[in-house]
Parts: sequence; C-alpha cells; structure tokens
Amino acid sequence: MTHAPVLTAHNGFRLPAVGLGTYGLRGDAGADAVAAALEAGYRLVDTAFNYENEGSVGAGVAAASVDRAEVIVTTKLPGRHHAVHKARTSIEESRHRLGLDATDLHLIHWPNPSQDLYGQAWAALVDAQQRGVVRQIGVSNFLPEHLDRVESETGVRPVANQIEVHPYFPQEEALALHAERGILTVAWSPLGRAKELLEEPVIGEVAAAHDITPAQVVLAWHVARGTVSIPKASSPEHQQANLAAASVVLEDAEVEAITALGRPDGRLFDADPATHEEM
Ligand SMILES: NC(=O)c1ccc[n+]([C@@H]2O[C@H](COP(=O)([O-])OP(=O)(O)OC[C@H]3O[C@@H](n4cnc5c(N)ncnc54)[C@H](OP(=O)(O)O)[C@@H]3O)[C@@H](O)[C@H]2O)c1
Repeated sequence: MTHAPVLTAHNGFRLPAVGLGTYGLRGDAGADAVAAALEAGYRLVDTAFNYENEGSVGAGVAAASVDRAEVIVTTKLPGRHHAVHKARTSIEESRHRLGLDATDLHLIHWPNPSQDLYGQAWAALVDAQQRGVVRQIGVSNFLPEHLDRVESETGVRPVANQIEVHPYFPQEEALALHAERGILTVAWSPLGRAKELLEEPVIGEVAAAHDITPAQVVLAWHVARGTVSIPKASSPEHQQANLAAASVVLEDAEVEAITALGRPDGRLFDADPATHEEM
C-alpha cells in the first residue's frame, strides 16, 4: 500500500504530503469515495462545514477498515459562524456531523476581513482545542497580517494555512513565510481543477521524461516544494495515481520550469482573501 511522505509543523503535528479533497463528493457516492481512498492508503481527508458533506466524510471514515487514530480529518469553520458564541456551537456541530470524537484539524475557512470577526473565531478554536473538541487548529486563506494578528492576540500559532497553490499561482512568498514559522502550507485546487494547466507543454515534457501523467507531475511539483496537496478525486484510478505521485522525485530544473508558469493573475477565480469573502 502506498503512503505519502509526511511534513511536520512547528509543534510536531504531521500531515501527509497528499490528502483527499472532497468538495463535491456527497451522499453515498461521497462516503464510498472517502472509504476507497482510505483503503488505498490516504490518511488525510479535507472537508468543510460549507461543503455539506461532513456526514458523508464521517461515514466513509467509519466504513473504511483503517484505524481511526491514523486518519486526519480536516474541516473548516464558515464565515457566518465567526462570532465566538456561534463558533463554539459550529465547531461542535461539525464534530457531530462527522461522527468523530474530535476533529483532527479545524481551520477558519476564510478570514473575511470586512466582518473583522476572525479573531473571535480563532479564540473559539483555541478554546475548543483546550476542551479537547479539536486536536489541532489552523487557518485557510489567511494573508500575513491575518496570521500575525491571531498569533499576537492569543499566543497560539496556526499549524497550517490552506491556500490556493498551483503552478499558475505558486505563492512563493507565502510558502517562504510559512516555512520560516513552521506553518504547513496546504494547497487547495492543487491541480488547478484539472483544466488547461494539465495541457501545458512543459508539464507534458516532464510527464514524458518520468513516464507519469501531467496530474502526477503537478502533484510531484507540490511535494518538491514542501507543500501538502489535497486533490479532489472521485475515481479509484485518480485517487491511486495521485497518491503514487507523492513518491515521484523531480529534478530542481523541472521544478523551476513548472514554477515559471506562475503569473500575478494566475488565481482560478477572484479569490484574493483581502477582498473575497465567503459566509
Ligand atoms: N480552503 C478553501 O477555500 C478551498 C477552496 C477550494 C478547494 N478546497 C479544497 O481543495 C480540494 C481540491 O481542490 P479542487 O477540488 O477545487 O480542485 P483540484 O483538486 O485541483 O481538481 C479536481 C479535479 O481534478 C480531477 N482529477 C483528480 N485527479 C486527477 C488525475 N489524476 N488526473 C486527471 N484529473 C484528475 C478531478 O476529477 P475526478 O473527480 O473525476 O477524479 C476533479 O475534476 C477541494 O476538494 C477542497 O477539499 C479548499
């Protein structure tokens, strides 16, 4: 069975380099996809309150013949629940939907700076961790000023920041800041949603050189850059190919050539966390 290499945060918390994204995996088919991924060797599954599939993810974890203690389930607190009293209930609600003793990694989904309540959301996560409702706490879509603020207000540093990263938007400054602070970078939409990115000639050339697929090249690029990626894959074929990519080692020159696809407007959609907000 394939297992992905692991990365370690400032407090010793470890994440495998490849996990399963689950946006759009719902119902019985979603639970089956999560169970199949765990049976194939995945140990990290990413969901969110707003994906409306925490129930399916929990069912998949329960159905798989994998020790629960080995599995890391990430979920995310939505923007409309940032106020501290709402956050407390929302965090507990996610745990019940998932059917888990505790969520393994709970993130603030978006900072939503105009609401200016993400500090309260962070305080609620710190409290939930102290109460044992969640094991590890982190953030998503946080810019440096958001990271600075939650740490200065509570003295607690997030273990991970889940952000948009793919070759069109390589986020070099964010990766460097996270590495300096021991914050794990988790890449969302790591395959660029499997659109034109996978047709890029440079990615095709590296794929041919290693006898792997373009999607595997992109995931190996993430591994080489020390980033955790969470590709969403519904079929066992894609799931297994993505996990196998975690063991592919690219040459430095190949990594650099792929990073050169990056461009300032390379985001998939207008998701700049300074302005884009999700409730
Ligand atoms: N924190 C946030 O704000 C945020 C935002 C967006 C996403 N996310 C998380 O990140 C996860 C991944 O992002 P995403 O779903 O947007 O995009 P993605 O993982 O970049 O791309 C998913 C697409 O890639 C296809 N695919 C997967 N493996 C493949 C392979 N080996 N070869 C060819 N195609 C392949 C999938 O098809 P099949 O399903 O047919 O396999 C699906 O169409 C989400 O599911 C979610 O968990 C978080």
